Amino acid sequence: MEGIVGMNDMSRVVEADRAHVWHHLSQHKAYETADPRVIVEGKGIRVWDAKGKEYIDAVAGGVWTVNVGYGRESIANAVRDQLMKMNYFAGAAGSVPGAIFAQKLIAKMPGMSRVYYSNSGSEANEKVYKMVRQIAHKHHGGRKWKILYRDRDYHGTTIGTLATSGQDQRAEQYGPYPDGFVRVPHCLEYRKQWDVENYGERAADAIEEVILREGPDSVGCLVLEPVTAGGGVITPPKGYWERVQEICRKYDILLHIDEVVCGMGRTGTHWFGYQHYGIQPDFVTMAKGLASGYAAISCTVTTERVFDYFKSDAADPMSYFRDISTFGGCTSGPAAALENMRIIEDEGLIENTARMGDRCFANLQALMEKHKIIGDVRGKGLFLGAELVADRGTKEPAPEKLVQQVVAECAAHGVIIGATNRSLPGLNNTLCLSPALIATSDDIDQITDAIDKSLTKVFG
Ligand SMILES: Cc1ncc(COP(=O)(O)O)c(C=O)c1O
Repeated sequence: MEGIVGMNDMSRVVEADRAHVWHHLSQHKAYETADPRVIVEGKGIRVWDAKGKEYIDAVAGGVWTVNVGYGRESIANAVRDQLMKMNYFAGAAGSVPGAIFAQKLIAKMPGMSRVYYSNSGSEANEKVYKMVRQIAHKHHGGRKWKILYRDRDYHGTTIGTLATSGQDQRAEQYGPYPDGFVRVPHCLEYRKQWDVENYGERAADAIEEVILREGPDSVGCLVLEPVTAGGGVITPPKGYWERVQEICRKYDILLHIDEVVCGMGRTGTHWFGYQHYGIQPDFVTMAKGLASGYAAISCTVTTERVFDYFKSDAADPMSYFRDISTFGGCTSGPAAALENMRIIEDEGLIENTARMGDRCFANLQALMEKHKIIGDVRGKGLFLGAELVADRGTKEPAPEKLVQQVVAECAAHGVIIGATNRSLPGLNNTLCLSPALIATSDDIDQITDAIDKSLTKVFG
């Protein structure tokens, strides 16, 4: 911070923030009587606020982003060197880090072949929607234009991506939305919608029912999170993905996997969430952990088959993908992403994520024995959720206010955790954890200890 303002002058920063900054997802009335949180420094898995208080950050920058942790000098250096050499040129031209990162990324994604750069998860997803619409116009005579999305999933903040929000509170008051986006049921078995043995297959069959209702000829694409994030950390039930892939093939529907949260090792064992389930997508989008927040970058990755649709008719000046992303040309993004990927590989962070994820999961399950308020523990790798319920029998959700008190108590104990919020009416009751992939056993135990103490304080 030296250079902008000294550490001794933090009160000036807090006042400037209170007076002029409009924070995301925040009711500002609260800042008339309490200070806004200003984070000043980070190192590893820890951050410090303007008052000098230290926290373990169990949510990787608040929204599952800083996968390799804070203070990575090698990423800062890689970005600096690249900026001095060539900071920007619009994406109609290539760049050195853009080309090399695309090659390395594709090597980790068998079956995929093209990378389109932009700079947020929303934008990456919106590119897919535009590609699907253009394929419909150009190759299906205007048919196959609808995009299916799932209840409880989230794909972004723009009007287009909010049209595919399975989280009603995120979309409320920002409509009306464009046509052609159709919802399918969620697959969370804990909140069963069908009383059957093979829940995964049944939940996938529900997608087929929507396709048949809409008309298979009108449906171009299905977008899904591999593990739903902000909708309550929902891992798919057994058999779900196999059946989803089968249905997409049966009706010639393109499969779009939103890896904005799950991508780059977050779920452990594999680079991407979908790779746990043996599926072959047509589109994969990613952002957050791609450069761990050291630069803004997102990627829309497609197969060669999808790419071919846009070059098959060179005589038609309208046939190629006529999308523009100004900041998709920033070289800081792929430069940071390259070094981020090297760190994940060289430090074995995907393996660490699997190990630490198992430990965190086991710790949360142990807390379940002690705290009846925990109704369900879910997740994969270092991407976990604990759903709080007032009554295990009826599964009545714990009140959101109390869930938020647990989050506040954890912060008082020096651990920043998350919780579903302003997403699902009446169901914002899941505590969320997504620490950096460098987390150690001690870090994990400190995180779950803080949750233990906080649950006792709030619920007894
Ligand atoms: C699954 C998923 N997709 C897309 C997005 C949107 O990403 P961004 O905020 O970078 O636009 C998010 C953001 O939280 C997300 O969780």
